[in-house]
Amino acid sequence: MAISQTDKRTLPVPRHIAIIMDGNGRWAKKRGLPRTAGHAAGAEAFRRIANYCRTLGVEYLTVYAFSTENWKRSAEEVSGIMKLLGKYLEEALRDMEKNHVRFKFFGDLTRLEPKLRKLCMDAESRSAGYRGVQVNFCLNYGGRDELVRAAQAFARDVAEGKYSAEDLSEELLSGYLYSAGVPDPELIIRPSGELRTSNFLLWQSAYSEYVFMDVLWPDFGPEELDEAIAQYHRRNRRFGGV
Ligand code: IPE
Ligand code: IPE
Ligand code: MG
Repeated sequence: MAISQTDKRTLPVPRHIAIIMDGNGRWAKKRGLPRTAGHAAGAEAFRRIANYCRTLGVEYLTVYAFSTENWKRSAEEVSGIMKLLGKYLEEALRDMEKNHVRFKFFGDLTRLEPKLRKLCMDAESRSAGYRGVQVNFCLNYGGRDELVRAAQAFARDVAEGKYSAEDLSEELLSGYLYSAGVPDPELIIRPSGELRTSNFLLWQSAYSEYVFMDVLWPDFGPEELDEAIAQYHRRNRRFGGV
């Protein structure tokens, strides 16, 4: 059920929506196409949803594009995904003036090809002033990896005398994550029918509402996002209270 126009005007949209963009491979398989064709269709779905989030006034959209575990896939699939990302970013850089999307990358970019890494860094720096919607693009991202890196960075600061171990608080630790300064997502959506987080936003999701949907990511559009937001509005968030 899509949100009615009235609901859309009266109910506040979540400030921060996160999506596990899953199901590209199955989408391609169903059509007898190579998995890469599914990833290309997934990139189009992302474009649609980023634009729709901007229209809705969502402030942050965090998308899981490639996990620290996705390197286990065939070299062919990985290089196909990386090529598509490069192509997408080149287009995003070209259309930047039109779309006003602010890009941030969550993940260890040092493992990427230098050319792709540069595209990521250019997209981040050239879009820094935009106020449309902030897209946090999770690329070579893992929630556990993010926490390990935060612990290492804090340990270095302790060794340098900047902090003592007891100074560490939830707030201070949050500042060492890729998501520093970004509010936690109210809503996390996983299409494709899988019922797990697959190492996504482990820390930030403590009180997020999860919506799992049966649709495959390349088929995900504004109607599906409306439906997920409608489900979110029906939840009763208690944060441990009554
Ligand atoms: C998500 O789609 C994209 C990435 C993980 C890179 P999948 O490729 O995981 O698609 P399925 O789950 O095999 O259908
Ligand atoms: C999660 O999907 C990662 C991304 C969508 C980028 P996977 O397809 O990698 O997750 P699993 O393997 O089904 O848990
Ligand atoms: Mg998958």
